[in-house]
Amino acid sequence: MPKVMRSGLLAIGVLAALVGAAQGVPVQAEPGPAGHLDPRLPVAERVEDLLGRMSLDDKLGQMTQPERRYITPEEVTRYRIGSVLSGGGSAPTPNTPERWADMYDTFQRAALAGPLRVPLLYGVDAVHGHNTVVGATIFPHNIGLGATRSPALVREIGAATAREMAGTGMDWNFAPCVCVARDDRWGRTYESFGEVPELPAKMTTIIDGLQGDDLGGATSVLATAKHFVGDGGTADGDDRGDAKISEAELREVHLPPFRAAVERGVGSVMVSYSSWNGLKMHQNRYLITDVLKGELGFTGFVVSDYNGIDEIDGRPGFTRDEVAAAVNAGIDMVMVPIEWRRFIDYLREAVRDGDVPMSRIDDANRRILAKKVELGLFERPMADRAYLETVGGAEHRELARRAVARSQVLLKNDGVLPLDAEDKIFVAGGAAHDIGVQSGGWTITWQGEPGPITPGTTILEGIRGAAAAVDYDADGGGVDDSYDAAIAVVGEKPYAEHHGDLTGDMGLDAGDLKTIERLREAGVPVVVVLVSGRPLDIADELPGWDALLAAWLPGTEGAGVADVLFGEAEPTGRLPVTWMRDSAQQPINRGDGKTPLFPFGYGLTYG
Ligand code: BGC
Ligand code: BGC
Repeated sequence: MPKVMRSGLLAIGVLAALVGAAQGVPVQAEPGPAGHLDPRLPVAERVEDLLGRMSLDDKLGQMTQPERRYITPEEVTRYRIGSVLSGGGSAPTPNTPERWADMYDTFQRAALAGPLRVPLLYGVDAVHGHNTVVGATIFPHNIGLGATRSPALVREIGAATAREMAGTGMDWNFAPCVCVARDDRWGRTYESFGEVPELPAKMTTIIDGLQGDDLGGATSVLATAKHFVGDGGTADGDDRGDAKISEAELREVHLPPFRAAVERGVGSVMVSYSSWNGLKMHQNRYLITDVLKGELGFTGFVVSDYNGIDEIDGRPGFTRDEVAAAVNAGIDMVMVPIEWRRFIDYLREAVRDGDVPMSRIDDANRRILAKKVELGLFERPMADRAYLETVGGAEHRELARRAVARSQVLLKNDGVLPLDAEDKIFVAGGAAHDIGVQSGGWTITWQGEPGPITPGTTILEGIRGAAAAVDYDADGGGVDDSYDAAIAVVGEKPYAEHHGDLTGDMGLDAGDLKTIERLREAGVPVVVVLVSGRPLDIADELPGWDALLAAWLPGTEGAGVADVLFGEAEPTGRLPVTWMRDSAQQPINRGDGKTPLFPFGYGLTYG
């Protein structure tokens, strides 16, 4: 570079530093032209070059992940923030794909306005499609995908989700959850591909779909294996609870999906809120650093869960000690949605006092920056709006419909299924005509909610598309013996995380039972379609039903349920979890000697 240009840049750098100092904001170590911006250099070289230019404050910023509602773009520039997230339901107004792309670009421009021009990673929970965006394709929750037993299909879903994310700019998906749900009372059971380690391990193909062949692809997004480790093994299925299990069991049951994810090159791993034998995972250096990074050879970066560091000492909020404990345990990026300024201050103090070694800060930065380079973010930082049209596009909805059909598990059939397109059908039940209910939690909002929250095809609409004569009343009013069959679509209302934990009864509610009773009294064959995130306690009622189809939480493409009901698709789904005979059997799992209502792997065909 000509000397005059170089000195000009230096002058600008010095000026920026002076202005920065005058405002009392972090000052960069070494301004100047940058090898890290050179795409021809190898990843490691670019990262080292960049690291050499960074001040402590630059490095602290990279490790900080605020929530979009609690930080402005100006603050992103000023504090050299490394990542921003949208928490559950945190969306721009209006909630359209275009506004997401605009929001993303605004934050990204702010990051690039920093002196070292380091792009940020925008993270979001796209756990069953790009589910916070109104109009996106909503795929079945993982429990349904586990029932498909199809790693190839799951990979396709990952790729479709990545395309929809790419259109809105999103770089980083907090998915897949590779938890092994051992107790169905757990409110996150539906986030699990299944209760035995082989199943979530097999379904890590979703990582290949999300990340592409390598992270540099046009629609590649960074995937996250979560929640490390033992989240599905807590006592009584308590969310954020304590997994009171031996190391042998932890390794045998809960670790294998993480091993599989690391083998597939997953870019990040999220730590679990839960504890292992009384020790919070967020401070478990042995498991995060020795086992995950050492033994399994994970080279990506570790992110904490939302306010996860607050929980280490069991008191609300976080202290300097909790920050130091989390970072020393091996957490590289810290999800501190609101109190991110305090986090930066505490971490700076901890480093200055020698409580967190500088080598740990550098290691965290290397891991984060390497992923940014690999993603091509320095070269292509902005939303690729060419992919906006894929959001909720016909091809993706078609894929989702296929996935729904393949996820259906036929548990009972006294010969009434498949139904005939010429049949006169009555449909009832609170889950029959409700996109929100059939999508479950983590849909548009964190908890999800009933109602027409996003475009899609309800199960009723799917049935109407399959049969000529369909009548509907949510409560079953008007049913009589002129119908060939009655379908009751019943089950759980949306929930997420601990809000879905069950402590007592796991049965259908009184309203659903009454609706089914009405249909039965009409003297027509009754088909029950269960919309739920887990097995429900239905053993006592089952003898009165002519057919039972477990539909799980299918998402926006309810026609996939109808495809199976009417024989357009053969039921091929297999139980990804053991179906209890009675709530009191929880936890119940394959091979534990208990007698279930339906064993793991069960599923009828029309054959
Ligand atoms: C956020 C979610 C987050 C949850 C954790 C909510 O306010 O929106 O993203 O998972 O808090 O408690
Ligand atoms: C959940 C995570 C999620 C995070 C960000 C937490 O409450 O446990 O699964 O990725 O929020 O929304």
